[in-house]
Amino acid sequence: MPNFVTDRFAKPSLPFSDGGYNFLWKVCRENSSYVMVKNDNTEFFIAVKPKKDGSYVIKSDKISRPSQILFLQQALEIYAKKAQCNILFSNVKPSKLKRENFAVKNLDFFAENLFANKKNIYLEVGFGSGRHLLYQAKNNPDKIIVGIEIHKPSLEQTAKQCEILGLKNVILVDYDSRILMEFFPSNSVERIFVHFPVPWDKKPHRRVISSYFTKEALRILQNKGTLEVRTDSELYFDYVVKTFVAEDSADVKILKNFDLEVSSKYEDRWKRLGKNIYDIVLTNHKISKKIDKIAKLEFTFYSNIDKIIKNFSPKLFLGDGFFVHFETLHVKSNEIAVIKTAFGANERAEHLFIIIDKEGARYFPNSVYAFSANKAAHKIIEKWLNE
Ligand SMILES: C[S@@+](CC[C@H](N)C(=O)[O-])C[C@H]1O[C@@H](n2cnc3c(N)ncnc32)[C@H](O)[C@@H]1O
Repeated sequence: MPNFVTDRFAKPSLPFSDGGYNFLWKVCRENSSYVMVKNDNTEFFIAVKPKKDGSYVIKSDKISRPSQILFLQQALEIYAKKAQCNILFSNVKPSKLKRENFAVKNLDFFAENLFANKKNIYLEVGFGSGRHLLYQAKNNPDKIIVGIEIHKPSLEQTAKQCEILGLKNVILVDYDSRILMEFFPSNSVERIFVHFPVPWDKKPHRRVISSYFTKEALRILQNKGTLEVRTDSELYFDYVVKTFVAEDSADVKILKNFDLEVSSKYEDRWKRLGKNIYDIVLTNHKISKKIDKIAKLEFTFYSNIDKIIKNFSPKLFLGDGFFVHFETLHVKSNEIAVIKTAFGANERAEHLFIIIDKEGARYFPNSVYAFSANKAAHKIIEKWLNE
């Protein structure tokens, strides 16, 4: 995570703009603060934290960290200069890439249903180092290769490779695939790859594959489209077979120690250890109904910031299949309140901020979409903020 440590920090007065970045305002909690940064494409927080020895660490905030690390590096460099920092340590390397990477998209891109009429999509879930995804992109220029990965450094590295290789048919997004798949139109995807998913042998509810995921995969697959899982874990293999076999209108094929055209980093490691590798391929045989566009959840009230700031304390609400956790409050006098929250379905929570100012409230950095657990959580959040 890009960060630097400085023993001099002349708090810059806000707002200021430099190099295409607007540093707008900051909110504080105890001695730490979040600075809101905005450029043409995105908004994110820089976190400023004092250390015990009197120095400061200035870094990206984990929740709002932009998918394009370049934005963060540039913003941190500008901020360090403005705050006249004397840098003791830094891993903020000037990026070799000087512009945004067009492969990287955000959640709203998918919510806008831009794939509505496309029929040539390959989707890779958890692409890690991207070896398989890049191979597919290079060898199938007529396909759109969508990669979903929650680990931002992997996404960044793969995005760079796309740029270096001049690949124009790749779309990358950092989001939980279990949620993102719900934005895809029905019958739109030819192949879905899930290669070496984390086995979660002790916490199976955290696995990517579930009955719900499988049903969603079948909905978005074309007739004869495939969901292809590759694993070295015998427990995961058994679990996937059981989950797939339960589906009607689909057939299951199993392969053992079958070599693909390209081998991933994990696969190389498992092969060296002499492990068996299993492929479980589910082929869809149905045409699914079209789905409606999923709406954004928005706040509809005029919030009383003073009251929210006065009454805030961390709180956990547990509902039927969902939860809401108000974690911490960060404020700018009585003008802006930022609440760090986690909410939604138990097994796939959203981690977001709620920003409340004189104009109302909004989720940050992502929009929140009306999946059932999110809808229930949003109702509680609205009610709680109004009370
Ligand atoms: C064991 S690695 C395998 C990476 C790659 N497929 C390979 O074969 O080398 C699993 C990857 O899945 C990603 N991942 C885990 N859960 C995910 C989720 N819900 N949505 C998207 N990616 C996920 C992890 O960040 C990790 O990069």
